[in-house]
Amino acid sequence: MASLARAGSDSRPLDRVLRHCYKSNERPRRSPRRKKKSSSRREDLLFTRRQALFSLATLSSFGVTDSKARASTSISSNAAAEFYAKWRYAEPRDILPFIRDRSERGDPNGVLLAFDEFFSMYPTYHLGREKAEILTGIVRNTKPERCVEIGTFLGYSAIHTASNFVSPEARLVCVEFEPRHAEVARECVEWAGLSSQVEVLVGEGGKRVMDVKAMVGGSADLIFLDHCKPCYLPDLIAMEEAGLVAKGTVVVADNVVYPGAPDYLRHVDTLAGAYKTELLEAKFEYDQVWREDWETPKDAMSYSVRVL
Ligand SMILES: C[S@@+](CC[C@H](N)C(=O)[O-])C[C@H]1O[C@@H](n2cnc3c(N)ncnc32)[C@H](O)[C@@H]1O
Repeated sequence: MASLARAGSDSRPLDRVLRHCYKSNERPRRSPRRKKKSSSRREDLLFTRRQALFSLATLSSFGVTDSKARASTSISSNAAAEFYAKWRYAEPRDILPFIRDRSERGDPNGVLLAFDEFFSMYPTYHLGREKAEILTGIVRNTKPERCVEIGTFLGYSAIHTASNFVSPEARLVCVEFEPRHAEVARECVEWAGLSSQVEVLVGEGGKRVMDVKAMVGGSADLIFLDHCKPCYLPDLIAMEEAGLVAKGTVVVADNVVYPGAPDYLRHVDTLAGAYKTELLEAKFEYDQVWREDWETPKDAMSYSVRVL
């Protein structure tokens, strides 16, 4: 049975949405899309105020390629039935046998393809291939040595980041609130052969700032925020106050348009002076969630460089 029935009563809201989607062991079908509504005024303002509007040119300057070509997720219904019969996902750690079955130990690209395949059947809150390519383009351009990630889930974005490090000295310190997620992330990172470069701490990003600072050993070159959206601003301010953010630090944040982090965007807005910020358009990553009336919302990642 393809269900999330084993998921505990402590499941997060998204898990409940997903469980609602999987009523049978058939792969849910995507409903025909409704005609697109025009963007809201808030979004229009948000998108047009930025100095650098996102465009294909902007994205390709970050090394983004055609993600659909790379993440092949078209799966026949037979294959889906076989998949659901064998891989009954209910807990985060159930992804581990799948990854070990589908990839070689020490091959981060193989691990990431296995993640993509698994998540195409069980959509959940990972960064998704399109946004991951934006992130890795930034990593390749920035060549960071000291990196921080808040919100690691099962390690997908962390493996993308660390596998694109240029310097052998580069390190990534991750903070993940949910211990079950952190444990799986560590095991996935280990299977990808990146344990010596990635450390996963458990806790709330804002409360682990001093530990992160001590582990990073100074200011960070790159910070990636992908946790609770209302936490982005207080946690960034805590990192600024702790000295983790310095002139030249790049801060990337996901979902700043949808679900949205308006107070955070105001803080890093180029017009406010301390950061130079661009928005990089990418569709909301849970577009695989099939649901009546589902329409993939417009979203973006923000890319900010501290200039003061
Ligand atoms: C969207 S998921 C992260 C996805 C991940 N970056 C990836 O690409 O696979 C958000 C994660 O943030 C974690 N989280 C939520 N609030 C947090 C906080 N205050 N500090 C650290 N992690 C948090 C959640 O437990 C969840 O695993």
